[in-house]
Amino acid sequence: MSKYEELHKLKEEMEKDESLPLKKGATKLVFGVGNTEAKIVCVGEGPGRTEDQRGIPFVGQAGKLLDKLFPLAGLERKEVFITNIVHHRPPENRDPLPEEILAYGKYLDKIIEIIKPKVILTLGRFSMAKFLPNVFISSVHGKRYEVLVGGRSTTIIPMYHPAASLRNGNVLAQEKLDFKNLKNILAELSKPKENIIEAEQTSLI
Ligand code: URA
Repeated sequence: MSKYEELHKLKEEMEKDESLPLKKGATKLVFGVGNTEAKIVCVGEGPGRTEDQRGIPFVGQAGKLLDKLFPLAGLERKEVFITNIVHHRPPENRDPLPEEILAYGKYLDKIIEIIKPKVILTLGRFSMAKFLPNVFISSVHGKRYEVLVGGRSTTIIPMYHPAASLRNGNVLAQEKLDFKNLKNILAELSKPKENIIEAEQTSLI
């Protein structure tokens, strides 16, 4: 089965799952969208009003900003896969609760397991905390961390949430710098790894 087919099947499974705690108050499941062969998965917080109506993540004001930030990193939205830490809209856009994050987490884990991204870009402190617990976003934003995700070494890059940038001009300025620097991090990551065996052999000659 292709990654696309596996994700499609997972989405259908999720749509039928009546145990998901935010399902009752939501209009649509916001599973995720984008390139199913992506090297980068972006994980936001949770759908807002527009996303809830359309069933697509990051299509409201925060999404419009995100679309402008991607090119600073040399990226286009269609290259990445975008999803959230919870896939139904929390009432009145409140923060997701720990038990909600846990309930949706098994699906997020499966999405990541299927796509197998090299890089996970977290957007905001809730998705950051899943991969980098006990850190402050103000200290770690824009930096890269190597973390075992589902047993695979994965680069986690925590970013400010675009909604925070819409509220605060200083955060926006910092986020623009972080996305510009993300271009350097991605270039660094795509360099071929040194072949250590070959290097050792060379030194023997
Ligand atoms: N904010 C998020 O975190 N996710 C969305 O999908 C939209 C806004």
